Amino acid sequence: MSASRRALFKLAAVGAAAFAAAPLQLTPAQAASPSEPDIGVPSNADKPLSIVNLDDLEAEAKAVLSPARFAFLGPSGDGWTYRENRRAFNDYPIMPRRLQGISGEAIDLKTRLLGTELPFPIITAPMGGQGMIHVEADVAAAGGTGAAGTLYVSSGAATKKMEDVAAATPGPKWFQIYMNKDPEINRWLCQRAKANGYTAIVLTADALGPGASDDYIRLGRPFPPALRVPGNHDPAQGGRGNFFDLKRDLSYGDIDFLHEASGLPVVVKGLLSAEDVTRALEHGAAAIWVSNHGGRQMDGVPASVSVLRAAVDAAAGRAPVILDGGVRHGIDAFKALALGATCVAIGRPVAWGMAVGGAQGVKSVYAYLVAQLRSTMLLSGTPTISAINRQFVATKG
Ligand code: FNR
Repeated sequence: MSASRRALFKLAAVGAAAFAAAPLQLTPAQAASPSEPDIGVPSNADKPLSIVNLDDLEAEAKAVLSPARFAFLGPSGDGWTYRENRRAFNDYPIMPRRLQGISGEAIDLKTRLLGTELPFPIITAPMGGQGMIHVEADVAAAGGTGAAGTLYVSSGAATKKMEDVAAATPGPKWFQIYMNKDPEINRWLCQRAKANGYTAIVLTADALGPGASDDYIRLGRPFPPALRVPGNHDPAQGGRGNFFDLKRDLSYGDIDFLHEASGLPVVVKGLLSAEDVTRALEHGAAAIWVSNHGGRQMDGVPASVSVLRAAVDAAAGRAPVILDGGVRHGIDAFKALALGATCVAIGRPVAWGMAVGGAQGVKSVYAYLVAQLRSTMLLSGTPTISAINRQFVATKG
């Protein structure tokens, strides 16, 4: 392997790291330093997009970003779970009803999530290290999400500090926490989030260590020091605590802790097992987020949509269930809603929209998905979100 290819793999490995904690905004001069590999610069795009298909948008993002930055979005391991997240939607063909007398104007996508009204049931999943993608990082993603009118979930590994993210969106927002070993840091993050208008704390339960792609392991788990200071912890940004002093022995008791520390509802993200859903609810989880981290943590776990129905049954109407992983079409959102999800979240599509169009690109991603969901509802005879139920999906096999 050539030296430049090794350098590329080293950087690609960063993308497979668990937390994507990459407040990286190198200047072109820094990026081109002879002693460092050329990782290119983040996008500074800001334009509305005309989106035909999110696969096309991904290809455009790939063309805009350097290979290293694009690889940052990649899956862990062999990418089986990543692919499965997309494929498994095929296990649930839509079974539309005809002649329902519903006009296009009657289609209403509004829904409620933890007391907040959303114009449609699609939200932005937390993503760390967005400075890898765009100069405005989380501020662009939050701005585009807020302009679309929906909920932004700010990552605990955000490039920007949570105050700036909060100011970037007029819409609702939640704060996702990567718990620190030091409870006082956790308490401080929770209270900071509450003071800045975040209305729920999201506990990510599935990222206890670096998601290890084969290349990452082969290269000795490299992690350039320049990528180590997420916005909320960076002293230069008013933060404190070492982000990488992560609490790995997460337990159900942490739900109680976060609830007590924040006074906010706690959403548990990263659950796949119905038993875990039950335990999380017993410990006061206000919502369940079925997710495998977009196949970016542990490879080999099932697609989120494959376990959604069992998770919804375990929740038994006691709490909303959010699903993410591989949502790329309105029909994917529809299928998840039909299986019982309250809403779906998108990760990479937001990153691609940001790479190609900044905040406006993110807004365009939402316009695309919402238009598709709207037409799927018309074509399947479901005028409202609450009308979408399991009768509208057939199970294959
Ligand atoms: C993530 N994800 C994630 N999740 C989380 O709880 N905190 C985080 O900081 C991150 N960081 C992160 C970075 C990048 C680059 C990606 C792609 C993903 C996971 C994310 O919230 C979500 O679960 C998945 O992205 C959903 O899958 P799709 O939509 O990307 O297929």
